[in-house]
Amino acid sequence: MSSRDQFASKIGFIFAAAGSAIGLGAIWKFPYMAGTNGGSVFIFLFILCTVFIGLPILIAEFMIGRRGQKDPINSFKEQAPGKPWFMIGWLGQAATGLILSFYSVVGGWILSYIIRATSMSLTGNGVDFEALFTDIIANPVEVLIAQATFMLITLIIVQAGIKRGIEVASKWMMPLLFIFFILLFIRSVTLDGAIEGIKFMFVPDWSYLNAETFLLALGQAFFSLSVGVSAMITYASYLSQKEKIVSSAVNVAIMNIFISILAGLVIFPAVFALGYSPEQGPGLVFIMLPAVFEQVPFGGFFILIFFILLLFATITSSIALLEVVVSIGIGEKTNTRKRATWIYSTLIFMIGIPSALSFGVMSDFTIMEKSFFDFIDYITNSIMMPIGALLISLFAGFHYTKKISKEEFQSSPLLFKIWLTIVRYIAPIAIAVILIRSIFA
Ligand code: PHE
Repeated sequence: MSSRDQFASKIGFIFAAAGSAIGLGAIWKFPYMAGTNGGSVFIFLFILCTVFIGLPILIAEFMIGRRGQKDPINSFKEQAPGKPWFMIGWLGQAATGLILSFYSVVGGWILSYIIRATSMSLTGNGVDFEALFTDIIANPVEVLIAQATFMLITLIIVQAGIKRGIEVASKWMMPLLFIFFILLFIRSVTLDGAIEGIKFMFVPDWSYLNAETFLLALGQAFFSLSVGVSAMITYASYLSQKEKIVSSAVNVAIMNIFISILAGLVIFPAVFALGYSPEQGPGLVFIMLPAVFEQVPFGGFFILIFFILLLFATITSSIALLEVVVSIGIGEKTNTRKRATWIYSTLIFMIGIPSALSFGVMSDFTIMEKSFFDFIDYITNSIMMPIGALLISLFAGFHYTKKISKEEFQSSPLLFKIWLTIVRYIAPIAIAVILIRSIFA
């Protein structure tokens, strides 16, 4: 793989990395996780975990990928010959495949909403938004077709290769989405009774402070930063040696926190002002967005544009997920990109079928008292990602000599010291304690 593509510019890389990070994690998952876990406390823990654990590990992933310049498994093998570190790559491949299996289901829901928005049937005329969502996700034919279509879109982009596909798509959709969110935020906070939603987000109810919430917030930080599953290792392997990784990682983390909070500020004021419950679960954003757009002039039209932008944000993340699976598939075997993309996408689609049907015909099928969808979400988010992040942290902290990591860090000595202390001790210990406490709680 000597002629691998590289990102044409630093800004191209930041956009691609931010595009991979910012997706359903910040916009769909963050609000409903905050909504079901006490709001403010969850948000506080999420920010804490992002800054002090997620960000340092993101920097570690950038280092490993850029030094390796190969798919995760071969990057680890080359940098630690004869040692088992490369298994982090396997874990990442399994985790990203599983995440994509349910991510594509939610991507499918977005497609369903886009189709309805084109006929202006999402808002107005007394639409019951809760019933609308429940009907869509319970319809087996629709969810499966939508999920398959979403996978197909992801597949086509990944097959086209890194530069053309990823860089182009990420660059101009993200800023547009930002602007839309800010406008929606203004509409939402000016609704009567919106203040309750702001309080829900920022006035802490400490009774929610426990190991379980901590683990969920940690998982959310990893999920929304794309950390712990080698996705950022994969992206950074296309990065050239002259780019600064610390500032790229800081940018990604800030944008991610910003969009998450903004999504909350669009959703929660409206939840309270319009008399909904914050504890809707996965449907929260799909129910609340049309409700907010109904309050906006020409909302029926703007919601169409909005969901198209949301689709793009989702696709820049789904291609990152598939890219991990495929790059490992190509790296390990003598697969061509095209073959690997088709084989893995088909597999992921099939694994995702029970998740797609979890809200309808298979709603009675449970594992550990969770629906299939929730179960896959749980093992990836609360188990695989933290374990992956912990191992990556240890690799960067102890396998790299100080000389190597300092050289790669390319930033101030003080920041380097803080980073090293975190990846060596604070992050691994915190992750281990949170994992163990919450599993045996
Ligand atoms: N961070 C992405 C999101 O928030 C999801 C993701 C996780 C992407 C892991 C790649 C790797 O939507």
